[in-house]
Amino acid sequence: MATIGIFDSGSGGLSVYREIVKLLPREHYLFFADNAHCPYGEKPASYIQDRARTITDILSGLGAEVIVVACNTATAAAIATLRAAYPALPFIGMEPAVKPAALGTKSGVIGVLATAGTLKGSKYLKTRGQFEDNVRIVEHVGEGFVELVERGILDGAEAEKVVRASVEPLLDEGADILVLGCTHYPFLRPLIERIAGPGVQVIDPAPAVARHTVHVLRDSGIPTGDGPFRIDLYSSGSPDSLRRIFSLL
Ligand code: DGL
Repeated sequence: MATIGIFDSGSGGLSVYREIVKLLPREHYLFFADNAHCPYGEKPASYIQDRARTITDILSGLGAEVIVVACNTATAAAIATLRAAYPALPFIGMEPAVKPAALGTKSGVIGVLATAGTLKGSKYLKTRGQFEDNVRIVEHVGEGFVELVERGILDGAEAEKVVRASVEPLLDEGADILVLGCTHYPFLRPLIERIAGPGVQVIDPAPAVARHTVHVLRDSGIPTGDGPFRIDLYSSGSPDSLRRIFSLL
């Protein structure tokens, strides 16, 4: 049985856990939501790097053998420093699904929804650079999306107004594929899909990250599959949002 540490700025990372547990149902999960410091989106990289190190210390102290950084913003800001600081610990990060979107678009325009921190990260800019000769990539920060999810507001008039304000500019540009570049956003997916309409595909990279997690565990020689399922949830702040989102899974 593997002990898998997962963290996010808040409860959004549970959208990644949800995919991992489908492939690895008999492991011990430690999920840490950094609610007291959420959102990470506009915070300086150095701040997120400090939080990522503190959380990694906690999770590895609790026995995590692998860490999934279930946060695009923390991946962009901190995964390189984490790998350098903990060379013996495997880390798995998030990546906006620009490649499958670029291969799948018919209109030649893809829309990326992510935080400001992710959109200015060097990893994203590099990926973008690889594809923008062939497709047009338009971006929008999901303004207020993280706050909605943390408050458990996933539908209704308020959520619709907030989500429309960030999704419609991408549709107006002609995007026929929307990439969810923040792990909170999949909880708003039904609403995003309703606003976007049937001609627009929405891509969440979490299933690909889950498959990658299986490979990393195998390559690291960490045995899986022989334990009873268990999850321990931790929060640096109020556990309310974690409890709310977890109950939806
Ligand atoms: N869930 C996060 C991400 O994937 C962080 C959002 C935030 O805290 O701003 O980017």
